Amino acid sequence: MHLTKRYFVMNALTVLASIVLTVLAVMLVVAGYTKIFGRETSIEEMRRTLEVRAGIGEIKHWALGIGFERLMNAQEQRELEGRVKSLGADALLLLGRKVVFSTASLPAIDIEKSLMLSDYASDLDTLELSGQTYMFARADQRLMTGEEGVLLLLAPIRLDTDFSLFLGLFAISFFIVTFLAMNLWVSYRFSRGIILPVSRLKDAAVKISEGDLSWGIAEEGEGEVRELSRTLELMRIKLKESVHLQQKYDENRKFLISSISHDLKTPVTSIKGYIEGIIDGVANTPEKMADYLQTARSKAMLVNAMIDDLLLYSKLDLNQIPYHFEQTDVQRYFEDCVADNRYEYDKAGIRLELISELEKPVFVLIDRERMKRVVQNILDNAKKYMEREDGSVEIRLRETRTSVIIEIRDNGKGIPEQDLPHIFDRFYRADPSRTNADGSGLGLAIAKQIVEGHEGEIWVRSAPGEGTRMMISLKKR
Ligand SMILES: Nc1ncnc2c1ncn2[C@@H]1O[C@H](COP(=O)(O)OP(=O)(O)O)[C@@H](O)[C@H]1O
Ligand SMILES: [Mg+2]
Repeated sequence: MHLTKRYFVMNALTVLASIVLTVLAVMLVVAGYTKIFGRETSIEEMRRTLEVRAGIGEIKHWALGIGFERLMNAQEQRELEGRVKSLGADALLLLGRKVVFSTASLPAIDIEKSLMLSDYASDLDTLELSGQTYMFARADQRLMTGEEGVLLLLAPIRLDTDFSLFLGLFAISFFIVTFLAMNLWVSYRFSRGIILPVSRLKDAAVKISEGDLSWGIAEEGEGEVRELSRTLELMRIKLKESVHLQQKYDENRKFLISSISHDLKTPVTSIKGYIEGIIDGVANTPEKMADYLQTARSKAMLVNAMIDDLLLYSKLDLNQIPYHFEQTDVQRYFEDCVADNRYEYDKAGIRLELISELEKPVFVLIDRERMKRVVQNILDNAKKYMEREDGSVEIRLRETRTSVIIEIRDNGKGIPEQDLPHIFDRFYRADPSRTNADGSGLGLAIAKQIVEGHEGEIWVRSAPGEGTRMMISLKKR
């Protein structure tokens, strides 16, 4: 529900609930009072009032029936007195403006007042005399003598004023107290659902503005506040990602600069050396000359390959080149890889074999070109670091429930244990004496990037003298 609507409904409910509670409380108090004092206060009172009203009405009719002349007799007056007294009322008989008979001693001013009130306000049925409320009935009759006769019957209404007053005060104060309590409760709920989360959001926003993006924002609060915290959290994540990317860019730039100045410098320096050797006439025979030129050329080719690898690695690192994944039959793909390398391996006198343990065709989602680069790097390494006569390389394909495992196993010189954790690092070469050999030292770093780009894993098992097993696992599709 929207907050405004919610706020309105809650407030309306507060008022309504307070009213209902007050009514219930008043009913309870009346019931309790009645029980304690043993009389049905209000009902009893009402019954009595109705009785008296009927009674004085009857007396009025009786008086009009017998005629006012007879009311001048003492006997009839006694009867009248008896009747009104039995109701707890009083009678007043006037001729002209003179009181001829009265059961109560009212001051003249009250008599005047009651005459006026009963005359002019015939629609009233009560009148107020010296602080007391009376029900009244009035009869007018002209006597034979021509005088105006008025009979006024007055019955005091006895209200249980103490209790009514108490009940009124109780109801008002009870309403105020419940209303306040409910309002307090509603405010508390609102502060818990809105104000506290908002102030926490504010704290988080301050942290973000100070550059601290590690603070997660919990999704809490009501309605729009909850949406706001969700949005803010999304914003924080986005910001964190962009900061991370920025850091990665900076790191990458530093890496490129340091590799150009460090790793590329070595072959370039040696090219320079060979060329100077030729210019200075150190290469004084045609054979030597050809040898120097040949070396300079291969170094230049190495620099070229290194730059290519470097650019590829940095682009992969920044996720700058998109992958084109294709559904691929693993076995057929590696049959192709073997065919591509057959010539080079035959030339080097190394056996190359594909051993598949897959029972039926297994498919993976790969970028074929990119994955070729991985396999090529590994196969080149196996060939390059073979250093023995009866060299043999096997590509073994296995599957688990969810993945395909590709193992490229050689029986070459192997990798010393202390180098194993580092061979996937960029520019890491296990044998520093081979630093000048071909290869950029980026081959396995690139392979790792690409395999991870496929959500796969690459790892190595190796022992010096026994050979190396490169393992790649890819998810089956
Ligand atoms: N099959 C292998 N046998 C022995 N050593 C290997 C093998 N594959 C990789 N290595 C070691 O790991 C290092 C890193 O390999 P790589 O990243 O391809 O760089 P590069 O081949 O350019 O030296 C190599 O220098 C080598 O010492
Ligand atoms: Mg290599």
